[in-house]
Amino acid sequence: MLKTRIFKRYLRWAYKKGAEDLVKLNFKPGFKKEDFTCLLCGVGSEQTANEFIRFVTNRNPRAKIWIIDLGEKQVTAVKKLVKERLAKFDVNIRRVNALELNKLLPEASLDWIETDGFLEYFDRQSLKRLLTIWHGLLNADGFITTRDFVSSSRITITTDAFRIWLAKRWLGVSLFRHTKKELVSLFKSSGFNFVVGPTPLPTYKRFTLVKRS
Ligand SMILES: C[S@@+](CC[C@H](N)C(=O)[O-])C[C@H]1O[C@@H](n2cnc3c(N)ncnc32)[C@H](O)[C@@H]1O
Repeated sequence: MLKTRIFKRYLRWAYKKGAEDLVKLNFKPGFKKEDFTCLLCGVGSEQTANEFIRFVTNRNPRAKIWIIDLGEKQVTAVKKLVKERLAKFDVNIRRVNALELNKLLPEASLDWIETDGFLEYFDRQSLKRLLTIWHGLLNADGFITTRDFVSSSRITITTDAFRIWLAKRWLGVSLFRHTKKELVSLFKSSGFNFVVGPTPLPTYKRFTLVKRS
């Protein structure tokens, strides 16, 4: 799925929508500033890395880009892509657990954290820790864009339970179900202002967060 043309189009749409959400938050992202630094957290595939790097470098060719993932395959594929096609940009790729990002990156060193379908890899407690780490890594004008599944009605709880079972059964991946109410409460208590928006998938929501000062 992550390698299809539709997903590529979806990502372009999502990045554009994230920028529009920032306007709703009265926030002007500093893409063009000299030391603009961003992180793609849990890259998933080289196609996503490619879209992200192009989105950022079209706005600022000198931006510093970090890309991380826990998966060896993902990291190897992205390193190959960058070495072969995007070597002129400042891209740093690491295999690291997002819950240990504070060992890799200094406090207040990031302007933007982007990720997609990532929050559901964390149970409630780890998600709280992840948001605390992200909050610490973002500078005062830092922001986050992401999209994720939320369970709300009895129907979505059932379809999510099935999706989570499938992920475990076929991919061996443990995912965790979160409600919109739960995520909203976590964002608030972790020090963010945010907006929530739709995506083309009814149970998949868009979240854009700005660090509260
Ligand atoms: C759904 S995929 C991400 C999709 C990607 N953001 C995109 O837009 O194509 C989730 C990725 O997160 C990675 N991941 C899961 N838990 C992680 C963790 N604790 N630290 C870093 N990466 C993690 C997985 O290996 C997987 O590649």
